[in-house]
Amino acid sequence: MTHPAPTPLTSGKPAEPLQGSIAVPGDKSISHRALMFGALAVGETRITGLLTGEDVLRTAAAMRALGAVVAHDPDGTWRVAGRGIGGLTEPDDVLDMGNSGTAARLLCGILASHPLFAVMTGDASLRRRPMRRVIDPLTATGGRFSAREGGRLPLAIQGVQDAMPLDYRVPVPSAQVKSAVLLAGLNAPGVTRVEEPEATRDHSENMLRHFGASVRVETTGAGRIIHLHGQPELKAADVVVPGDPSSAAFPLVAALLVPGSRVTITGVGLNPLRTGLLQCLDEMGAGIVIRNRRIEGGEPVGDIDVAGVDLRAADIPPDRAPSMIDEYPILAVAAACATGTSRLRGLKELRVKESDRLEATAAMLTANGVRIEIEADDLIIHGNGAVPAGGGTVATHMDHRIAMSALVLGMAASQPVSADDGAFIDTSFPGFVALMNGIGARIA
Ligand code: S3P
Repeated sequence: MTHPAPTPLTSGKPAEPLQGSIAVPGDKSISHRALMFGALAVGETRITGLLTGEDVLRTAAAMRALGAVVAHDPDGTWRVAGRGIGGLTEPDDVLDMGNSGTAARLLCGILASHPLFAVMTGDASLRRRPMRRVIDPLTATGGRFSAREGGRLPLAIQGVQDAMPLDYRVPVPSAQVKSAVLLAGLNAPGVTRVEEPEATRDHSENMLRHFGASVRVETTGAGRIIHLHGQPELKAADVVVPGDPSSAAFPLVAALLVPGSRVTITGVGLNPLRTGLLQCLDEMGAGIVIRNRRIEGGEPVGDIDVAGVDLRAADIPPDRAPSMIDEYPILAVAAACATGTSRLRGLKELRVKESDRLEATAAMLTANGVRIEIEADDLIIHGNGAVPAGGGTVATHMDHRIAMSALVLGMAASQPVSADDGAFIDTSFPGFVALMNGIGARIA
């Protein structure tokens, strides 16, 4: 696919404290799943609050290419007329999943148990990411996968008519792998069983139930075990997508770091398997207040009040990683501005994100005068007590979260911080620059 034109961005200290009430775009994980489950259901699914970032638009295009009718109304409601389980049709061209690992891996699950041939590719970042973690379990359905060296995209898939149900213990904590296996199991007779040693985000399980599938979750000493009864009739259902906690993380940390700030972020998803960052910031003394807790569209949601504060360092245990896997770059920025030395433990999975996020995060901090070390899978950050030097240019490596983290760092540092390319921010957080500037940031 074509690489969007690079958009260098620079962020400096705001002239005034950050102030205002904002809402962030819809949750990326839930948005992908709403489109996919909608396409597999019978009837019309209506989705409100869908994230219209590039990643999710790729999923929408893929579901259209597979025969679902996906449209949106002027008021922002999306409508998906589904084909029913097993009813997707062969795409007549390559499916391009852009920058999105979630879209690519979940779609592999759907395609494995549909009797059709498909080829999938993505951008240079996605073509470097490991797909064997889904290919290996999905091959046991009877579907066939041919990939490039190292299990990389482009990938050819010959799905199977009578798929075998899977019984799989996920070897790495990954909601994407878990979800791919469950999606394959939707069109396999009998029970699909997935075991995860560490709990990962459960949006697939929640949404499967919401669409009428029978899902049972057992929590044992060995982790979580999910049982899905195959070939249910998924019935179209309305989905309300909450604000993405992984996107809220950026204005939230920005408000903590800019002295005197007072910001409210409304309607943020607070699924307990996504709130690890809030726990870390609480341990660092952030004093965040959550008001108006409620359930919307089956997911817990709340409004977050955050104010500028002096943070202290923290030691973050590795078992927190699944609940905040996408938040480490912005947590690292907070730690760089805290007093003391923080240790973020067990970050192995960060190496296979949109970039090698462990290296990219470390390089972002080093380029801006923050002393760090990487020891095995731990990132050690020597906090500068509120004011890192800044003045550096951060290599974003096609990674939206590195770009946004760098721009937040620029709001706290003595000198402005630049990101070499902000174009990928649109994959998850369209309107980020305008939203941040609207509460007083200076990103240009
Ligand atoms: C996601 C799961 C996470 C996360 C990604 C979205 C999902 O990946 O990093 O942004 O929607 O299932 P892994 O489950 O592979 O860690």
